[in-house]
Parts: sequence; structure tokens; C-alpha cells
Amino acid sequence: MDFRFSDDQLSIQSIARDFAQKRIAPVAADFDKSGEFPLENIRQMGQLGLMGIEVPVEYGGAGMDSIAYVLAMIEIAAADCAHSTIMSVNNTLYCNGLLKFGSEEQKRKYVTPIASGEAIGAFALTEPQSGSDATAMRCRAVRQGDGSFVINGKKSWITSGPVAKYVLLFAMSDPDKHARGITAFMIDTARAGFHCGKTEPKLGIRASATCEIEFEDYHVPAEDVIGSEGHGFKIAMGVLDAGRIGIASQAVGLSRAAYQATLTYAHDRKAFGQSIGSFQMIQQKIADMKCKLDAAELLTLRAAWTKQQGGRFSTEAAVAKLSASEAAMWITHQAVQVHGGMGYSKEMPLERYFRDAKITEIYEGTSEIQRLVIARNETGLR
Ligand code: CAA
Repeated sequence: MDFRFSDDQLSIQSIARDFAQKRIAPVAADFDKSGEFPLENIRQMGQLGLMGIEVPVEYGGAGMDSIAYVLAMIEIAAADCAHSTIMSVNNTLYCNGLLKFGSEEQKRKYVTPIASGEAIGAFALTEPQSGSDATAMRCRAVRQGDGSFVINGKKSWITSGPVAKYVLLFAMSDPDKHARGITAFMIDTARAGFHCGKTEPKLGIRASATCEIEFEDYHVPAEDVIGSEGHGFKIAMGVLDAGRIGIASQAVGLSRAAYQATLTYAHDRKAFGQSIGSFQMIQQKIADMKCKLDAAELLTLRAAWTKQQGGRFSTEAAVAKLSASEAAMWITHQAVQVHGGMGYSKEMPLERYFRDAKITEIYEGTSEIQRLVIARNETGLR
């Protein structure tokens, strides 16, 4: 087992760290407060290659591997979770899906502007009545005589929905076939029949724009079907496997930021005549935080490595996401506790870390869904 990173991997890590610390960390609290979308920062991240890390250079990306993606995501998330949410959806749910299942023409047309950061991509699976039970979707795609489709329905919780140029959409094209009746489509948000609905007021990742989107007799030409008709659910599940590695990386970055802040505070804060870090109750928290952080990071890197070998990596991705998100929730909780009143105050970033951590246990498959995926794969039972 080789724990060393390649020069390329270290290079993107260093680019991401530099940008995160200089351009994101100083403004993260302001964006969290205002809920404004950090458009200029996202554009610059695109220019640095951070919005399409695994996308080949000929389609506008950085042409790197999954480990490089994890390392860069950790750096961005350590500065601000909202920026890393936008980065994650763009990289994995959108670009990765099209790269894997799109035609050559679709990749050139729909990946290049998004991977280069010129525009932003989104992924639309969830609906108001179908979250974990994704095949219960009601958004309907009706095939026309010329092979085109007409879409009607609503999708919810769409990350970057209000600003996206293109959306990878999943809709039911044959309800009798359930999972095998779902088809994937490329949506151009500038076309007639696409509308943005209500924006979600959220507990955390407030600067990432999240909204409902609606389709009213939206016409998709035959050439914008992604993969084949009825293959959409497998595309969505495959894309989410990769997406879950992104969320695990985000949780690791967030945990690292909370852990490092805790180490500093444990040294600096004095009580009963000494640094609070010298008390065993604080030391126990620090040791447990360190173990959970390192385990989450290693499991996330293992999932990325497994993905790079080809073949299915659903279990590794689910193990990484479940472990890293629960570690992030626990670590940020303990970090607030060690900081006491300052952990609860908006003068320090701990309360933001704590609020941001919660979403990692919910989106791209709840912790309950990760457990279901792991247990089904391990036992072979349903
Ligand atoms: N890769 C490829 N194919 C897969 C797959 C995978 N990871 N998982 C399942 N499939 C295939 C199955 O093999 C099966 O194929 P066949 O029909 O040929 O047998 C088909 O898909 C149906 O699979 P299941 O019977 O297992 O489906 P299910 O209805 O029991 O659901 C589930 C499985 C794991 C619960 C799934 O619905 C799921 O993951 N739900 C959570 C959805 C989710 O993560 N939503 C997040 C939305 S994105 C988001 O968060 C927003 C954002 O912008 C960040």
C-alpha cells in the first residue's frame, strides 16, 4: 500500500488550498450570512481547473484522477462547505454523469462549458414526494413520434438550480416499468417551459443556491436523451456513487477545519490556571476527533482509489459517505462544546461548521440509505 500522492495530485491540492485560504475563508462567514451565491469565486475556481477535475483536458477539465478530486474538495470544504457543495455537484453529479453516459457530441456541447467554469451544471432527481425512494418520481417524459420528449413535472432540492445553465434531469418515461422506465435528459434552462420555483431557506450551506424547478410542456429533442431510454435510474445510481465520494470529501474537509480550530483553542484558552487542552476530558475529545477524522479520510481515499480501478464501487462510496458524514456531525458537535460560549457565537466559525455538517448526513442519500446500500451489498439480501 502506497500512501504517497503523485505530483499532479499534490499540485491540485496546493492550488485548491491556496485559493481556499486566500479567497474563500475570509469571506465564508459573509456569504453564509447573506446567502448570496459566490459566483465570482466559482468562476475563478473553474479557471483553476477545480470545476471539472476528472474531466479530460479536451472537454475543458483538468484531466486528473479521483484522488486529486478528493484532495481538492477537502481543501475547499475546509474553508467553506457551500463552495464545496457547488463544486461537488458540478464535478461529480453533472460532469461525471455526462462523461460516463453521454455521446461524443453531448460531451463536447454540455461538459466543456461546465468543466471550464464558464457556466454551472445541476442534477435533478429528487421531487417533493420522492427523495430516498427515487423511483417513485412523478415528473413525466412523454415520447413523441419523432423521438423527442415532452416533460411536465417538478423537481426539488436542486443544488445550483437558480444559476444553472444545464441540468441533468431524470424523468419517468414509462411508469409501468418503474426503475426501468426512467430516462435521463439534458435540459437547457434557457429553453421555453423551464421555470425556477421557490428557493429553499436552509440551516447550512446557505451560499449554495437550492430551489425547486418546474417543467411545463418542455420539449427535449431526441439528441438530448442521455444514454438510452429506460436506462436513467442506473445512470442516476452510478452518478450518485461518485457523488457520495465528493460528499465524503466535503465532510472530511469540514471535520479537519473544526478539529484544527479545536486544537488551537485547546492550547490558547486557559481555565483553572492552565490550557484547557491539558485536561483529560478535553484530551479525550481531541483523541477521538483525530481517530474519526483520519478514518474518514482514509475511507474516502479508498473509495476514490477503488473508483479509479474501474467496476462498481457502490459499497466503498457508501461506507466513506456514511463514516465521514457521521464523523463530521460528531466532530463539529464536540468542537462547539470545547469552544463553549465561543463555539455558540457567530464571532467564530464553529457554529457554521456545526450547521453545515448536518447536510452531509442527508443529501446524495441519507445515512439510512447508505446503511441500506452497504447491508444489501454485503448480505446479498433485500
Ligand atoms: N449502479 C448501477 N445500477 C444500480 C445501482 C448502482 N449504484 N444501484 C441500483 N442499481 C440498479 C439495480 O441493479 C437495479 O437494476 P435491475 O432493474 O437491472 O435489477 C435497478 O438499479 C433498481 O435498483 P433497486 O431495486 O436496488 O432500486 P430501489 O428502488 O430498491 O432503490 C436505493 C435503491 C438505493 C434506495 C436508491 O433509490 C437510492 O439510492 N435512493 C437515494 C437517492 C438519493 O441519493 N438521492 C439524492 C439526490 S441528489 C441530491 O442530494 C441533490 C444535490 O443536488 C446534492
